[in-house]
Amino acid sequence: MKGKFIVLEGPDRCGKSTQAKLLAKFLQEQGKDVLLTREPGGTPTAEEIRSVVLNPDLKVRPMAELLLYEASRAQHTQERILPALEEGKIVICERYTMSTCAYQGYGRGIDLNQIQTLNHIATLGLVPDVTLVFLMSDKYFVERGEYLFSDRLEKEDVSFRQKMRQGYLELLKMTPNAHLINADQSVEEVQAGVQQWLHHHKIF
Ligand SMILES: Nc1ncnc2c1ncn2[C@@H]1O[C@H](COP(=O)(O)OP(=O)(O)OP(=O)(O)O)[C@@H](O)[C@H]1O
Ligand SMILES: [Mg+2]
Repeated sequence: MKGKFIVLEGPDRCGKSTQAKLLAKFLQEQGKDVLLTREPGGTPTAEEIRSVVLNPDLKVRPMAELLLYEASRAQHTQERILPALEEGKIVICERYTMSTCAYQGYGRGIDLNQIQTLNHIATLGLVPDVTLVFLMSDKYFVERGEYLFSDRLEKEDVSFRQKMRQGYLELLKMTPNAHLINADQSVEEVQAGVQQWLHHHKIF
């Protein structure tokens, strides 16, 4: 693959969108060809699936939720990410396979092996060049989300968030090319850390 695939991961409100936009802007200013995208979604079909899976008014069973995420991922990976990488672009994606292991695995209790099998099928085996995992202290969850619309998954309680955090810490250990970023820092400090790390590891 000619391009580079950078994934930003972490629980709700940890700063993925903020950092993804800043990183895309920084790389574009360096003359790089960048695709900034997100999961679930990233294509019209996958965005429709996103609106179902995140709708707070709908009941979605854990296995149905998993399969919806994987359906969205299959569409997005094949329609957008793989073609962009073939063209040599730097693809920055908010959430990818690790989110499904964290939320549907550690969060909902679905077997991780099953999830990893589905991840592999949906992505055609495409793995990120790097997964940056943003983790912040729980006290910032409310502070950084007061005015935001809460989707179905963000309505989960503090014990769910603790499970997610623990899940991400374990996934960090078992995922090649995954790196922990302390998201308690200011937006600027976090972005500086991201850029330094990517530069040091020759991602750009
Ligand atoms: N380092 C930071 N310090 C303080 N506030 C921050 C920081 N990073 C992001 N924020 C603010 O916290 C809120 C959540 O950030 P953001 O939307 O980037 O998170 P996210 O991980 O994309 O969330 P979601 O999982 O819901 O998509 C936003 O209002 C953003 O401005
Ligand atoms: Mg976001």
